[in-house]
Amino acid sequence: MKLFLDSANLDEIREVASWGVLDGVTTNPSLCSKENVTFEDNIRAICALTSGPVSAECVSLKAEEIIPEARTLARIAPNVAVKIPVGLEGLKAAKMLDGEGIAVNMTLVFSAGQALLAAKAGARFVSPFIGRLDDVSEDGMALIEEIVEIFENYRFKTEVIVASVRHPRHVIEAARIGADIATVPFAVMQKLVRHPLTDAGVEKFLADWRKVKK
Ligand code: G3P
Repeated sequence: MKLFLDSANLDEIREVASWGVLDGVTTNPSLCSKENVTFEDNIRAICALTSGPVSAECVSLKAEEIIPEARTLARIAPNVAVKIPVGLEGLKAAKMLDGEGIAVNMTLVFSAGQALLAAKAGARFVSPFIGRLDDVSEDGMALIEEIVEIFENYRFKTEVIVASVRHPRHVIEAARIGADIATVPFAVMQKLVRHPLTDAGVEKFLADWRKVKK
């Protein structure tokens, strides 16, 4: 399973890269708005911190505008994946961009039908937002199960990025289902590595070590 960091913050990305577990990064306009740097400079800097895919989001709504915007983003670095919201215009753009060898991450996916069409249009990734579904009392993880099953049935090469991750169980459940990727916020990444019993165990071993005759 690949782990992406869902962040536009260079310190967070550098930190997780240093753990040896970073396979890529996803950003979105909300994450980029928190950083005090121009969008393009930030994406360029992120791309230098990982050789994995770095998602940068298009904000145009019409295919004829999404396509040139995506081409511009793809020129920033070879590992840019352009994020495009799913929809009729997004599908048209994805088909064209896939033909040009540009990786598309079809985002804001909330149904299996959207994921199926995105895969057929040639998206390299689909990003179902599970936390936002859970927030409205739907079952985000059930959507991941559906999409993974459909993609396996037809051997689609499109990879499933489990997005809008809220807590470590989301990552574990996604891994059990066999989702290709989870994109994880920094705080959840930290929670994945920590356990109070590990901390207590280290403390006890150190205390006992002090009693060992040396
Ligand atoms: O990057 C897209 C997605 O992960 C956003 O998550 O927490 O804003 O629903 P969230």
